[in-house]
Amino acid sequence: MKAPPRLQALVEEGLIDTVVRQLMSGKEAMVYVVRRGDHTLCAKIYKEATNRSFRQAVDYTENRKVKNSRQARAMAKGSKFGREAQEAAWQSAEVDALYKLADAGVRVPRPYNFFEGVLLMELVTDAAGDAAPRLNDVVFSAEDARRHHASLLAEVVRMLCAGTVHGDLSEFNILLAADGPVIIDLPQAVDAAGNNHAQRMLLRDVLNLRDFFGQFAPELLHTDFGPEMWELYQRGLLSTEVTLTGHYQRKTGAVDMGSVLREIDDARAEDAARRLRMQQSG
Ligand SMILES: Nc1ncnc2c1ncn2[C@@H]1O[C@H](COP(=O)(O)OP(=O)(O)OP(=O)(O)O)[C@@H](O)[C@H]1O
Ligand SMILES: [Mg+2]
Repeated sequence: MKAPPRLQALVEEGLIDTVVRQLMSGKEAMVYVVRRGDHTLCAKIYKEATNRSFRQAVDYTENRKVKNSRQARAMAKGSKFGREAQEAAWQSAEVDALYKLADAGVRVPRPYNFFEGVLLMELVTDAAGDAAPRLNDVVFSAEDARRHHASLLAEVVRMLCAGTVHGDLSEFNILLAADGPVIIDLPQAVDAAGNNHAQRMLLRDVLNLRDFFGQFAPELLHTDFGPEMWELYQRGLLSTEVTLTGHYQRKTGAVDMGSVLREIDDARAEDAARRLRMQQSG
């Protein structure tokens, strides 16, 4: 097909040869299958901030490192320069996370390049060499559900050991490649140690996995891996060698009022963001 304008720059730069087809147009990006030499790759074009959902506006950008204080002030003020800086931070967050997690041995698409707002990465494929399906488009046997659930929990542990929480992990952001599940879509990934919402995001990621695979293997619905993982992480005891039980003794006794209030605030902010999104798409 004719290269869309945003990919034309990559053709001119010699980063890709041809555009094969459009794969998806998601809320935040358009994804294309492209060719470079003998290789078939995936190109993710980020949409302009105004065309995107507001999920980054809530909490994901907290504690994102910005390069200088002018940038930080501009981002805080929401000026044009600020919006551009925020936009660049959002896009490069996915690229940074992909490099970091690939290095840590997490199964994510291998990143190749990031040029003019386009991320070039490995195309995740099924056994036939076609773009791999998302988990939500696949039906699993109980045995496969248990196996994939376990291996994805191990990936979440690996990410946490590398200091990262995905933050939007679900059956919609995991592809089933010929060699097993591959985690995608990381612009909202957060720093596990530096972000106040990291715990809540990790717990939600783990619950999403449980609820999805629990449809096929109902015994998974009784597991509770998230809090166990987080506690080990906080105590500096989490490693990829640790065997998790899936059960967690909740501490009774003193209630941490500060964290309860924070949870309530979080829920409110998230609800407000959702309404805003619905208004936008409605
Ligand atoms: N590396 C890849 N290999 C194969 N397919 C991919 C790859 N990256 C993305 N896709 C496809 O493109 C879709 C959208 O990608 P992604 O989730 O990263 O973007 P998004 O804009 O956040 O989408 P959404 O809003 O639907 O979550 C994925 O669901 C998947 O089907
Ligand atoms: Mg997605």
